Amino acid sequence: MKGLVLSGGKGTRLRPLTFTTAKQLIPVANRPILSYVFDHLRDGGVREVAVIISPETGEEVKAFLGDGSAWQMKVDYIVQDRPGGLAHAVKLARPWLGDSPFVMYLGDNLLQEGIEEASAEFSAEKADAVIMLKRVANPSSFGVAVLDEAGNAVRLVEKPKDPPSDLALIGVYLFSPRIHEAIEGIRPSARGELEITDAIQRLLDTGGRVRTRVVEGWWLDTGKKDDLLNANYTVLDAWTRRELAGEVTGSDIDGRVSVGAGARVIRSTVRGPAVIGRDTVIENSFIGPYTSVGDNCRVTNSAVEHSVILERSTIRDVERIEDSLVGRDVTICSQTGKHKAIRVLLSDSSEVEL
Ligand code: TTP
Repeated sequence: MKGLVLSGGKGTRLRPLTFTTAKQLIPVANRPILSYVFDHLRDGGVREVAVIISPETGEEVKAFLGDGSAWQMKVDYIVQDRPGGLAHAVKLARPWLGDSPFVMYLGDNLLQEGIEEASAEFSAEKADAVIMLKRVANPSSFGVAVLDEAGNAVRLVEKPKDPPSDLALIGVYLFSPRIHEAIEGIRPSARGELEITDAIQRLLDTGGRVRTRVVEGWWLDTGKKDDLLNANYTVLDAWTRRELAGEVTGSDIDGRVSVGAGARVIRSTVRGPAVIGRDTVIENSFIGPYTSVGDNCRVTNSAVEHSVILERSTIRDVERIEDSLVGRDVTICSQTGKHKAIRVLLSDSSEVEL
């Protein structure tokens, strides 16, 4: 089975981070989201992957994944000149996919469960598609599937006002080459995109067999800031191990904390689950649970909790930072002197809560 990873798009909901970074490369627990996607594909036996990239962020994605050898895979790239929809991405990849069955994985989705169960279902049932589903509390925000008693999809509805089920489609799909005919038969939606839900509905309408896999573990869509903090929380909770590669001096390190190579923790408390990146210095500070501090950061005389701090940022003399997402090369510090005022240099689409 081949793999198709969607790593284009605009990532507008994660601005300003996505002005300078591909959304799929934003780290969760200090690893870019795409790393988890590739782990799952490798573990599911996929050896050849095409990655859909955008003209804006494609080079960065290429620089990170390279030729795929870090995952023992062969990776090719396909440029999508505009985000024309998930089915548009499949259409572009058709020459690369040929007649192979494939798994399509959205590059900004994180799942606890791998693709093994869905692949087994796909092969055993000789299905034309297997869609992965998750029960959600707010089905109106998603594409939703209606199933028969045997677990076959019978109908898909995009963002229904009156949801017929609470089973949302998540970002992983397995397809036989029949999906290409279905895509040929659909037209762009009201938002101008070729929708994969329309293509799957078309597959159903033309007699295709669409099986489903309802996942029990967590599924995280990293579209917005709070989603990303939630993803960081969940991944740290599930997967962090105690691993102290760096140097710890006069500090308390409680629980599952990973301190990267070359990092130094000096006269500080770090309470897990938390990760401290390589060559980062934490001095005279408190790092609370569910915090990821990236590589080459510096946190001095400050407290940080339930936050994500990306590479090369500095936090100095700040009483407490919570529930925050801080980009790369950022400085946050408190001022000395009598005249108290807030001084900022913020990029477009930034958010500050005082
Ligand atoms: P979305 O989250 O639907 O879109 P987006 O990344 O453009 O984000 P926003 O809504 O904040 O502007 O996309 C899901 C995934 O699929 C994401 O990894 C980007 C990718 N994608 C493509 O590669 N091509 C496309 O045409 C679309 C729509 C998405």
